[in-house]
Order: sequence, then C-alpha cells, then structure tokens
Amino acid sequence: MSTAAATSTQSRSNPKRSRVAIVTGASRGLGLVIAHALEALGHQLVIGARGERALEGAREELLQHGSDVVAIRGDVSDGSARARWVDAARGCGGLDVLVNNASILGGLGALAELDVQRFDRVLAANTVAPMALTQLALPLLEARHGLIVNITSDAAQGAFPGWGGYGASKAALELMTRTLAEELRERTVSAVLVDPGDLRTALHQEAFPNEDISDRPVPEVTRPFWDWLFQQDLETIHGRRFAAQQEALHGIR
Ligand SMILES: NC(=O)c1ccc[n+]([C@@H]2O[C@H](COP(=O)([O-])OP(=O)(O)OC[C@H]3O[C@@H](n4cnc5c(N)ncnc54)[C@H](OP(=O)(O)O)[C@@H]3O)[C@@H](O)[C@H]2O)c1
Repeated sequence: MSTAAATSTQSRSNPKRSRVAIVTGASRGLGLVIAHALEALGHQLVIGARGERALEGAREELLQHGSDVVAIRGDVSDGSARARWVDAARGCGGLDVLVNNASILGGLGALAELDVQRFDRVLAANTVAPMALTQLALPLLEARHGLIVNITSDAAQGAFPGWGGYGASKAALELMTRTLAEELRERTVSAVLVDPGDLRTALHQEAFPNEDISDRPVPEVTRPFWDWLFQQDLETIHGRRFAAQQEALHGIR
C-alpha cells in the first residue's frame, strides 16, 4: 500500500456519537492526547498519520475507551489523503472540530544553508496542508458551527537560530489562522491557535538528536487544557492564541 493509501476501520459496537472531529497526526505525541480529549467528550474521530502501525495502535487505544474511530493513513501534503479525511467525517454525519496537528521539523539549520527543497516540504506540510484541509472541511464546519484548531510553536514568534525554516512555516500558519478567524466571523466557524510548549515527543527528539529530553514534560500535561478548550463557547475563544502548558498549569482563563 502506498504511503498515502488509506486503511479505514470503524468501531461498530457503540451507539453513534453525534459530534465528529478530525485530528491529523494523531498516531502519537500531542495529536493522540488531543484525540483522547475529544473522545472523552463524546466525539467520533477521524484520525490520520503516515505510519500504519502507530496509527493502528492509536485506533486500538482509542477503541478501548469506547470511541468510534476511523483511521485513515495518509500524508497531510497529499490532497487525496485530505479528501479522504473530510469524506470520512461527512460519512460520520458532519464535522465539529478540525485539529491541524501533524507537522514536520524538516531538519534544523541556519537559513544561509537551508536546503530550499526541504523548506518547500516543510511549508507544504505545516502551512499549505492545514489551509487546504480547512478549505475542504469548511462547508461541514459551517453547518455545525465548528472549530478549527491549528497547532503552532514558540518558534513562530522567536527568531531562534537554526529554527528559521520550521519557525517560518508556523509563523505563516499563525498569520493565516488569525486572518481566517477574522474572515470567518460572519460564517459561524471559529479558529484558534495553540502552542503546546516543549514536549517529550519524537519531533522534539529530532530537534535535539543527541540530547536527553527526559526533562521535557510528556504531552499528557496539556490534557486539562484540551478538556477545557473543547467545552468553551466558541464566541469566547474565537481568534485567540493559547499556550497550552501555561493555561493548564496556571489556571485556564
Ligand atoms: N514536541 C514539541 O516540543 C512541540 C513544541 C511546539 C509545537 N509542537 C507542535 O505540536 C504538534 C505535534 O507534534 P508532536 O511533538 O506531537 O510530534 P510527534 O510526536 O512527532 O507526532 C507527529 C504526528 O504527526 C504525524 N505526521 C507527521 N508528519 C505528517 C505528515 N506529513 N502527514 C501526516 N501525518 C504526519 C506523525 O505520524 P507519522 O510520522 O507516522 O506521519 C505523528 O502522528 C506539531 O504541530 C508540532 O509542530 C510540538
């Protein structure tokens, strides 16, 4: 099966849940924590990632909690994978939440030596793909007064040497998300940005390949934030940027 090919499986044992969410990059790390939070709040889930084994593991983990899960393998940079995720949500009855979480680091290094082809791939996955998936999902989200959550990074705001390519992809995502939020005001769809902070994940290890990252918190530390976010009145959070760990640790406003 090619990378973008889909495996789709769904629990049939549960009564249909009425709310539906798509989470990209939900096979591990932060995306899996977000999927668990949405599952606990009664969402049917459409989850995506490239690697089949981890995605299947995530699906089985979520099924143990009794959720309805459609797992579809694919790369966010691939338009046909994006269409399959949105079609799956449509098949579930609609869409309430879209979480654009999947991202690639694409390697770190000074901008002076940045491999521009690699930078193209980073922009395709981290910036273009979330907007393209949003465009596809918008009619479904509009019908349900839905929420778009775009995952960003402090690298979008700090000029950290070596992080310019990845940081630029997230900075562009931030501006597009804030612009989108303004444009969507009349269309009953909300959009927010969430910076999860440093987390002990595969992506973070890739950024610090020779470093022991065991002092970084596990992605589960952000769980209270997600439990809070997905229960908010969308009017009150529309267009905001949240720092998930700060919100979770210092009390959510
Ligand atoms: N960890 C941190 O310290 C940190 C800090 C700030 C922001 N973030 C952001 O948090 C989000 C989640 O990162 P994470 O740390 O949880 O990373 P992670 O543990 O490496 O997980 C990334 C997830 O995305 C999937 N993925 C990656 N590239 C993909 C692609 N092109 N198409 C489809 N799925 C893809 C991965 O599965 P496959 O590889 O199998 O596709 C995996 O499920 C990202 O947006 C990241 O930028 C993380």
